[in-house]
Amino acid sequence: MIQMPPKIFFYLGIVAACAALIPPVLAVQSRNTTSEKPPLHAFLDMDVQPKFKPQTESALFADGRSARPQPVGTVARDEAMEDTHRNFGVVDGQWATTMPRDLPVSMDLLRRGQERFNIYCTACHGYAGEGNGTVNRRALELVSNASGPVNGTVWVPAKNIHDPTVTVQPVGQLFNTVTHGIRNMAGYGTQIPTDDRWAIVAYVKALQRSFDAQLQDVPPDQRSKVQ
Ligand code: HEC
Repeated sequence: MIQMPPKIFFYLGIVAACAALIPPVLAVQSRNTTSEKPPLHAFLDMDVQPKFKPQTESALFADGRSARPQPVGTVARDEAMEDTHRNFGVVDGQWATTMPRDLPVSMDLLRRGQERFNIYCTACHGYAGEGNGTVNRRALELVSNASGPVNGTVWVPAKNIHDPTVTVQPVGQLFNTVTHGIRNMAGYGTQIPTDDRWAIVAYVKALQRSFDAQLQDVPPDQRSKVQ
């Protein structure tokens, strides 16, 4: 005769099967009900920390307000705009013709400008600034293959920065174009920090100069390499 296991195992099995149903039932129940109570929060991380919520009182200050009014005349450090040369490219109401005093042109600044130009400007203007970037070429391809405006729009090609109307511009004017954009070009004032915009301007000037380079511009000991 086959030996049956003791009955107790049979009952334990039933109890275990029922217990196994509890977690999924709880999960389904909590997914389908709403509760006013805060959720169980096993790991607090930084969710709970001492702070003043808006409009709450603080005993620390005589007027009892936790939200402090700004002392009159304060400006966030990066919003101090009184230096119009640096922030707007304007000196005495005219476009600045020099770089801001604390941003002299150096090889490091030009390299930074080149890097930023290659990131932000080449897509449209091309690496040499001639206006033949990838976006520009693709857009021209789309427009020229279509019989009319594409998606209801037309393409204004990115300008050649070696165009005489651009090469005569003072640095302040270029800085203004990069900051606020011009006509169909959007501005980069919110994306590119001020110093980097100046670095880009310095690089644009260098690019323009390089298109008009003479052998005399090259240091004598380097000339054999370019001849
Ligand atoms: C999305 C494409 C695009 C990008 C990116 C772009 N530009 Fe332009 N840019 C244009 C177009 C288009 C024009 C011509 C606008 C017009 O004539 O309506 C232009 C014009 C210019 C001009 C000529 C302004 C003038 O006085 O005629 C300069 C200088 C210039 N861009 C510099 C830059 C620099 C520097 C960057 C990078 C920070 C940049 N652009 C990024 C599309 C772009």
